[in-house]
Amino acid sequence: MRKKIIAGNWKMNKTVSEAVDLASAIKRELADCSAVDVVLCPPFTAVKAVSDVVSETLITVGAQNMSSEENGAYTGEISHSMLKELFVRYVILGHSERREYYKETDFWINKKVKKALEKNLRPILCVGEKLEDREAGNTEKVVEVQVREGLKDVPADAYTELVIAYEPVWAIGTGKTATSEQAQEVHAFIRGIIKDMVGKEAADAVRIQYGGSMKPDNAAELLAQPDIDGGLIGGAALDAKSFAAIVKAAM
Ligand code: PGA
Repeated sequence: MRKKIIAGNWKMNKTVSEAVDLASAIKRELADCSAVDVVLCPPFTAVKAVSDVVSETLITVGAQNMSSEENGAYTGEISHSMLKELFVRYVILGHSERREYYKETDFWINKKVKKALEKNLRPILCVGEKLEDREAGNTEKVVEVQVREGLKDVPADAYTELVIAYEPVWAIGTGKTATSEQAQEVHAFIRGIIKDMVGKEAADAVRIQYGGSMKPDNAAELLAQPDIDGGLIGGAALDAKSFAAIVKAAM
């Protein structure tokens, strides 16, 4: 049985004081969330404050990116040790916005995934096709390359730690959700790739989240699919009641 995981990706939203308010409201809404892994991913500047707010709860904190390097002359980057000191447990890697606007490639994303695992941070590896890929019938091809390259040389026993987020780019922030059938199909396809890469045990254990306009009113149906193990939530994660409703749909 895979435990469901709901993560809020706050993207470039919320100052420290706003983040404290949002995290506090989420904490009030989710007094008992032991049935689901709940992760809040604020911007770097608010990680410490959010960690402090949720410190005595089961809610954990994630970051939205991380350097693949240890330390040194990498202007603007943030390392694993900087995150771990702030009690970060998860790190979103290879989000489509980073692939698109900051030209992150599978090679670098794979380096980050391996660095995170080596340092006991749990990567949330994002994959997903663009609209033109889907329309051209290339969804599986695109997703397969991202999964195989992003998880290259990751050992089978790491799959209990890492999370994959399937996020069709055309569904992110657009209000267009993949239907539960469309999402399930790709999730099952991804699990099949993992089985081929590292075996059935790892494929059965790895959690695959759906992301892309997941909201309180579509969450239950998506989360009921056999290969959908949670959600990576953008817009709806900025509202405590909506986010909590999605977490409750996963219970
Ligand atoms: P959305 O974003 O829920 O606003 O579509 C999801 C994501 O980008 O992780």
